[in-house]
Amino acid sequence: MTLAKSDVSALFTQAALAAERFRAGLDDRPQRPGMDYAALRAAAAADVLPTPESGLSAQETLDSLIQLAEPGLHASPAPRFFGWVIGASHPVGVAADWLTSAWGQNCGNHHTAPSAAFIEEIAARWLLDILHLPATASVGFVSGATMANFVCLAAARTHVLRQAGWDVEADGLFAAPEVQVLIGDEAHTSVYAALRMLGWGQRRLRRVATDDHGAMRPDALLAQLADCTGPVIVVTQAGQINTGAFDPLAQIVDAAHRHGAWVHVDGAFGLWARACPSTCPLTLAYEQADSWATDGHKWLQTPYDCGYAIVAHPEAHRRAMTFAASYLPQADDAERNPAEYVPELSRRARGFATWAMLRHFGRDGIATMVEQHCMLARHAAQRLADEPGIAVLNDVVLNQLIVQFGADRDPQQADALTRATIARIVADGTCFVGGAEWRGRWVMRMSIIGWETQLADVDRAVDAMLSAWRVEAGRG
Ligand SMILES: Cc1ncc(COP(=O)(O)O)c(C=O)c1O
Repeated sequence: MTLAKSDVSALFTQAALAAERFRAGLDDRPQRPGMDYAALRAAAAADVLPTPESGLSAQETLDSLIQLAEPGLHASPAPRFFGWVIGASHPVGVAADWLTSAWGQNCGNHHTAPSAAFIEEIAARWLLDILHLPATASVGFVSGATMANFVCLAAARTHVLRQAGWDVEADGLFAAPEVQVLIGDEAHTSVYAALRMLGWGQRRLRRVATDDHGAMRPDALLAQLADCTGPVIVVTQAGQINTGAFDPLAQIVDAAHRHGAWVHVDGAFGLWARACPSTCPLTLAYEQADSWATDGHKWLQTPYDCGYAIVAHPEAHRRAMTFAASYLPQADDAERNPAEYVPELSRRARGFATWAMLRHFGRDGIATMVEQHCMLARHAAQRLADEPGIAVLNDVVLNQLIVQFGADRDPQQADALTRATIARIVADGTCFVGGAEWRGRWVMRMSIIGWETQLADVDRAVDAMLSAWRVEAGRG
């Protein structure tokens, strides 16, 4: 099918208008999808299901996509969306991302994509500076924190095995010295996935006990370390998914290094605490770790997908990720080949949206946003905790809250009331929240992370939560 230049122009305008309409309507619509997955499937007319035998015009294709997709879109970029931990796709990042797609660069190396490689280089330098991490660290632009954890832990595996005299790139894992992995009991599930892909089954990991908020207990780690022989990797966390708790690296990192261990930090959202003067102290000594995983598509508000694998030992990072072929240009030491820091060769140039968000916010803008979200989280917690029957179960150190409804009832009743209240809040649509199990109890999770969220949004959301709870409690 051919596309005239005027068709392309009309198509891009059509997409931009649809995007604008979607975003402009977010505040006034329910903060949940109009249709869930099952409803979307049930409603799909028979004629949209079969494989298309012939093409459709560009404009009709886009119309069909919009029609099919829009009813099932979450309001995730909206200011009262507090589900999971999802950044709000800032328009500046979205626009940069449109250009990324339109420019169509293959970000594999600096010959196929000179600008992408160069802009990644700048964005990487800015990231390290804003997060107060060593300027000599290397940065891989990956799809998210799951892959960032994977890349960092691959570098860790390479490094600790090399120190034990084993070349994992050449000889693989069979017959390699056993690497002990010590990991906090409340680590994010994606770290287990990353470790599984790297050769550590769940039962091979040594779980380290955590405190009431899910932060690693240093005494438990030291006891486990004392029991380890051979290469060791310690997996720590900045920002527990439910409580926002931080592992106390100031009490961990020295001991781990004395043991020869590699210390990794999963800081998908929590690492951004380092970008804000009032929350930075939560991350004392984090700069001494060996690797850090974080996301752009959370607190930096880039569109999906964007994460960063940051490694203090660039040679281990490159060794773990690099692959060569005669047709692929190699980089010398002063050059950046983006593929040398990530698992993929061909991929989108994520550095453009990262650069744009860092340039748009600046150091100050990021600090102010993090500060504001943490203040709003404390405000929401205070208002909720003031209501009879509601308990906020965590110390709100960051932007995360976990809330129990019916906290004065027995545990089964409290779980049922919490589930029912969450369902009522979501059905009402003023805001969106999710649930999770925390230490055997069902809780409502509220994550304040959207760049647009203001005090009035949080107050509206809390009003809706209190109304829902009062109905469930028989006081509505
Ligand atoms: C602490 C933590 N680690 C890892 C992840 C996985 O990140 P992603 O979904 O970007 O791969 C998350 C996601 O919320 C997280 O909160």
